[in-house]
Amino acid sequence: MSLPVVKRDEKGIPTLYVHDKPFFMRSGEIHNSNASDPAYLEEKLWPALRGLNMNAVIAPVYWELIEPTEGAYDFSSAESLILGARKEGLKLCILWFGLWKNAESMYVPAWMKRDTETYFRAEKVNGEKMTTVSPLCAAAVEKDRQAFTALMRRIREIDSEDNTVVVMQVENEIGLLGTDRDYSETAQKAFFAPIPGKLAAALGKSGTWEEVFGEDAGESFMAWHFASAVETIAASGRKEYDLPCYANAWLRQSPWFPGSYPSGGPVERVQPIWRTAAPSLFAFGPDIYVPYCADVMDSYATDENPLFIPEIRKDAVASSYALYAFGAKNAICFSPFGIEDLALDPGQLDKPPMDLMIALNIDPSAFDITGSKDCLAATYDLLDQLEPLYLQYRGTGHLKACVRHGETDYSAFLRFADYDFVVKYGPRMSGKPLGALWVLELSEDRFLLVGLNCTPEFHVKPGVNRKLDILRLEEGRVVKGQWIPGRVMNGDEKMSLRFGDMPAAMLVELQRF
Ligand code: DGJ
Repeated sequence: MSLPVVKRDEKGIPTLYVHDKPFFMRSGEIHNSNASDPAYLEEKLWPALRGLNMNAVIAPVYWELIEPTEGAYDFSSAESLILGARKEGLKLCILWFGLWKNAESMYVPAWMKRDTETYFRAEKVNGEKMTTVSPLCAAAVEKDRQAFTALMRRIREIDSEDNTVVVMQVENEIGLLGTDRDYSETAQKAFFAPIPGKLAAALGKSGTWEEVFGEDAGESFMAWHFASAVETIAASGRKEYDLPCYANAWLRQSPWFPGSYPSGGPVERVQPIWRTAAPSLFAFGPDIYVPYCADVMDSYATDENPLFIPEIRKDAVASSYALYAFGAKNAICFSPFGIEDLALDPGQLDKPPMDLMIALNIDPSAFDITGSKDCLAATYDLLDQLEPLYLQYRGTGHLKACVRHGETDYSAFLRFADYDFVVKYGPRMSGKPLGALWVLELSEDRFLLVGLNCTPEFHVKPGVNRKLDILRLEEGRVVKGQWIPGRVMNGDEKMSLRFGDMPAAMLVELQRF
């Protein structure tokens, strides 16, 4: 059996294969510290995830815990995580909290933190040393490479049969905050030298960073150096055990200048640089806490960058975005952050401190779990049941999906061979999902609809001088790709066809006469 791999399927869609079968990660990412204690995992974490119909979980392994003493590895925390996930029947994406986490070096072992001479920090223009180890510090990158490679070896030893671990995220939200670039002595020398030959060849341009990138020189320079460090680490780890690897991005967002978001992280504008420096990565995944999640999905899902969402808001809109991510964007992974919170009563949940939200530039409503749990669990279940149909129809014109993109996005227009659909979105309300719909064209007149908070309307094609009627409307369920009909709704219900706050499926047969 092959190892987990991301490759294009027969329709050309980049797909994660696990045990040689497509695997769509209906996931959640756990809070940062919750994989650090095996007892906590056992008693609190795994029980909290049950019932959400996830098939995967995203969780960290911490460098400081696996190498507390230089050169002496202790993999027990990683092992409990892997064995625990396996017991729960969940696949695992491991976050390597190594040199960089949220633009800092929070998880490097204390022995490295203390030795600021050997493992030098990035510096601001005024010489202030940062809490971030410089990506130009080859000695630090080498230590991270060794630790990550040792971790991959250990994973291979205990997991190459089961393949509980299916993907690795290398580092977390890389970049520098509060400065456009590193001004340390080593960085200064590199910044005023010509750009590396490999980058010059890829761009077809040469010169110094400022000559080639102008005002974007600082961010481009950091992107190259962070990406090169990640490549060193990921390539070495993959040689030991070849799992798909990606990097995640803190989004470029208001107030937009490099350093207000981590400068050098794999945001869209510097992805060509990342792609050149780090060919061992299959994707750059967005962490999406802004109100305009669908726009972000649209811009990150490109032919070169399959959509892998390691973190997204977990309020009730998450379910709508899950439908859109898989239905419209062929996502490999969808994963609300702090997923274990969904087990709590919304009233019990401590609101994240406002200072933290401000520091992380997170929309606080992203963490409001009112109405989330049941809706996400039902949506994940439906996606699971739809999978055979999804595999058949995705990448063809017979599956189309939409979601409300913003306040002024009132409807979507979806075209099929013999009919057009107008999807009117319900109002946006806190604690409720956004309007979202999947339409599967099963034959010229029969459509399977799966939706939330919206009203579909049907139209004959322009220029066709015929009237339209709903011949038959059925509510029902999808079980393993099969339609199981429920009530036939050809009376009042047909005149007020609407999807509500929980995901539902309907089969509609249309008639032109
Ligand atoms: C994004 C980071 O990647 C996560 O680890 C976490 O810090 C969230 N922000 C916010 O809690």
